[in-house]
Amino acid sequence: MSASVDIERARRLVGKAPRVVALTGAGISAESGVPTFRDAGGLWRNYRPEELATPQAFARDPRTAWEWYDWRRSVLAGCAPNPGHRALARFFLRRGAAGLVTQNVDGLHTRAAVEEAGEGPPEAALPIELHGAVGRDRCNRCETRFPAEPLGDALPRCDSCGGLRRPDVVLFGESLDGEVLARAYSLAERADLCLVVGTSAVVYPAAAVPLATLEAGGSLIEVNLEDTPLTRSATVALRGAAGEVLPALLD
Ligand code: OAD
Repeated sequence: MSASVDIERARRLVGKAPRVVALTGAGISAESGVPTFRDAGGLWRNYRPEELATPQAFARDPRTAWEWYDWRRSVLAGCAPNPGHRALARFFLRRGAAGLVTQNVDGLHTRAAVEEAGEGPPEAALPIELHGAVGRDRCNRCETRFPAEPLGDALPRCDSCGGLRRPDVVLFGESLDGEVLARAYSLAERADLCLVVGTSAVVYPAAAVPLATLEAGGSLIEVNLEDTPLTRSATVALRGAAGEVLPALLD
């Protein structure tokens, strides 16, 4: 089937679906210049994120683990939302209904929603961040959250209890926040359509979000440069860059 037929089919599906949920992954931020999790680790001091972004690494050598996150934050400071983030933000602002679930910790969906809304976007237009947000710290001891600050000579500590801070993200080997995950599943189960964008769909439990829509009888549109394990279940698979496909699909 030709690409233009596929996009028309997909546009019709979006148009007639009262409730849409979207699941995004690293691919949607690639066009913003955000290195993927794995590539970034490969480029930096020969560490792999699977070794550095762990609770054990923070316990063993918090300075090195923090320096890696500080580097990621500095990379992100130079990145901006791309047309894919903005098309999704406009779509959910227009629909006025919650539906955006992301595995990304880069905060670009939130920035796009703020930019597109022109003022404080409604809560429903903000993403559910399954893996947390790198732009926030969290106290290891009392769980208080803080906006991120650049790393100084001393390791960052909690203003309330003095405990060590850590980035407010899910590290390798940690469980996702149960309440956040339940909100995502609940949206997916009630959705008529799940739009899956820029994810390899291999990391669970995030990859189960589209399955919840499918199991409840909904349809699936996949936007990716290549096939994934979800492709054979997709009602329509759109091959292309998210920054080009999403405006054509949603605007
Ligand atoms: P991956 O890096 O595994 O997959 C990125 C996907 O995006 C691939 O399928 C690419 O084909 C696709 N892609 C790349 N550029 C694209 C573009 N411009 N437009 C559309 N698609 C594009 O990233 P995720 O699936 O997000 O977890 O990885 C999931 C999780 O693995 C991450 O959240 C992270 C990591 O471990 C944690 O940090 C907890």
